[in-house]
Amino acid sequence: MSEILTLALSKGRIFEETMPMLAKAGITVADDPEKSRKLILGTSNPKLRVIIVRASDVPTYIQYGAADFGVAGYDVLAEHGMDGLYAPIDLGIAQCRMSVAVRDDFDYLSAVRQGARLKVVTKYVQQAREHFANKGMHVDLIKLYGSMELGPLVGLADAIVDLVSTGNTLKANRLKEVEVIKEISSRLVINQAAYKRRRAELQPFLDAFAQTA
Ligand code: ATP
Ligand code: PRP
Repeated sequence: MSEILTLALSKGRIFEETMPMLAKAGITVADDPEKSRKLILGTSNPKLRVIIVRASDVPTYIQYGAADFGVAGYDVLAEHGMDGLYAPIDLGIAQCRMSVAVRDDFDYLSAVRQGARLKVVTKYVQQAREHFANKGMHVDLIKLYGSMELGPLVGLADAIVDLVSTGNTLKANRLKEVEVIKEISSRLVINQAAYKRRRAELQPFLDAFAQTA
């Protein structure tokens, strides 16, 4: 008998938006990660289990084969790199954009035109570096793990690179979006080796995702 397949998901919006896709394939997950402290969850399909990991750790579990497949935002994937990974299906969930934002009283265009060296806080150091390098701008990047919006308010930075959806978080903190770097959605991510060796077992689940995406 073949081994069980492991699907890596993060709790919160990715888990919540993936559940209807699994439900359409007749699969339900045994526990609610918001209520249970369990990190390995059984499903109604004995050939599938779900593990709950941090959103930014999803590619790591899949790359090293601890999970066969999973769901991760393009922001997370681009930052992690695609080594050992295959991401064939855009699921169209958890849609947002990666943007540059500054205090609403900061003249970003003038600063750029004058060639000012800006301090930028972000969780997405690689993508921010690439964006500003493409614009020919010199920036000092400071890595943060969350609440990037605070950076320009307390003098840690001139600008942030973060995810924006409704814009409410920026507005609540008197920041304005000045550049969209890229549109983001979540992808189905598969371990490359599993995709070759366990294709027959994976295929029904990949089809289910492809049909609902
Ligand atoms: P970690 O726990 O690893 O720090 P996180 O807190 O960013 O990650 P989530 O907030 O659950 O994790 O976000 C998961 C994914 O959802 C992100 O990688 C991104 O692709 C997408 N996302 C983030 N913020 C939003 C948003 N406001 N609206 C829609 N999608 C979003
Ligand atoms: C994300 C992102 C922004 C916010 C943007 O945070 O880091 O802070 O969403 O969304 P909005 O434009 O609709 O306000 P999230 O809600 O995921 O919080 P977290 O990263 O702290 O978990």
